[in-house]
Amino acid sequence: MRVLSGVQPSGKIHLGNYFGAMKHHIELQKEHQAFYFIADYHALTTLNDANQLRENILDVAMDYLALGINPEKTVFFKQSDVPQVMELAWILTTITPMGLLERCHSYKDKIANGISPNHGIFAYPVLMAADILIYNSQLVPVGKDQKQHIEVTRDLAMKFNNAYNEEVFTVPEEYIMEQYAVVPGIDGRKMSKSYGNTIDIFADKSSLKKKVMSIVTDCTPLEDPKDPSSCNVFALYSLFASKDEKSEMEDMYRKGGFGYGTAKKMLLEKINAHFEPYRQKRAEMQKDISNVKDILFEGAVKAQIIAQETIEKVRSVVGVTL
Ligand code: ADP
Ligand code: TRP
Repeated sequence: MRVLSGVQPSGKIHLGNYFGAMKHHIELQKEHQAFYFIADYHALTTLNDANQLRENILDVAMDYLALGINPEKTVFFKQSDVPQVMELAWILTTITPMGLLERCHSYKDKIANGISPNHGIFAYPVLMAADILIYNSQLVPVGKDQKQHIEVTRDLAMKFNNAYNEEVFTVPEEYIMEQYAVVPGIDGRKMSKSYGNTIDIFADKSSLKKKVMSIVTDCTPLEDPKDPSSCNVFALYSLFASKDEKSEMEDMYRKGGFGYGTAKKMLLEKINAHFEPYRQKRAEMQKDISNVKDILFEGAVKAQIIAQETIEKVRSVVGVTL
């Protein structure tokens, strides 16, 4: 199956991004032909700071590569390096009903959160549809928040195929990653950059320690029994622990005499042990940024071959090729 997903370059990545999305992207590349890209044109709809955008793009590229994207097997690239996508996005806008976009939650949410409604934010799902359709993607692993955008993509693919009476586009399946746990932040709400409650996976050790030690818990005294199922520290520990380690910690909670401070230290050890090899790899990569740029460039060359085939077919089908 051809799997495709995009990630916005929006800053430092956290445990929620890792366990909710990136880890699964990395696993999926083993069994499938994966296309993963950095959605820089999507990021432009909300970020108008060139230096910040450049930094974010390289950051997320290094994060993904350090965590295990294999550029030999997976096509890993930057959205803006495949300009055919923009051309397809325009052609798709011409068959996109206004109402379809007006109904999109993410557009309405952004407006409700005070982001001024530029046309890019409104047309965002059409560009996303172009991203997906141009590579004949079959499976699109995304978080729940993106589900509606995949539905828009499916609608547009069918609408286009019908309008021109030709099976130009593969109608993709959504692959919602909601079966994976929602990772809680240090305040117990969903971990999210917008709540400022994240534990960033490539943070330096001392700020990581500070974050872990500040995870909110209830005030059950040390000697009393505690309920692991309602504890943020335990929920985070469970993401890393084996079955046996989990039940050992559960027993300690229930017995009493086990403090949250100790649980936090055990969690910190787990985080450090898990991410240490990735940190080293990332630090190496940071020393050779030009290699990271080369990897993205080589990925774009591979992506362009397929994008070009699709766009030529589309141009011909809509009648602009004479
Ligand atoms: P943020 O909320 O920090 O801005 P994004 O919306 O950029 O994060 O999320 C990028 C990806 O990470 C999405 O696919 C999303 O489903 C996943 N993700 C983000 N936060 C969490 C979380 N707390 N638990 C599980 N998955 C998450
Ligand atoms: N909109 C997605 C997000 O914010 C990123 C994205 C852009 C994407 N194009 C895509 C995801 C195509 C999957 C497929 O997370």
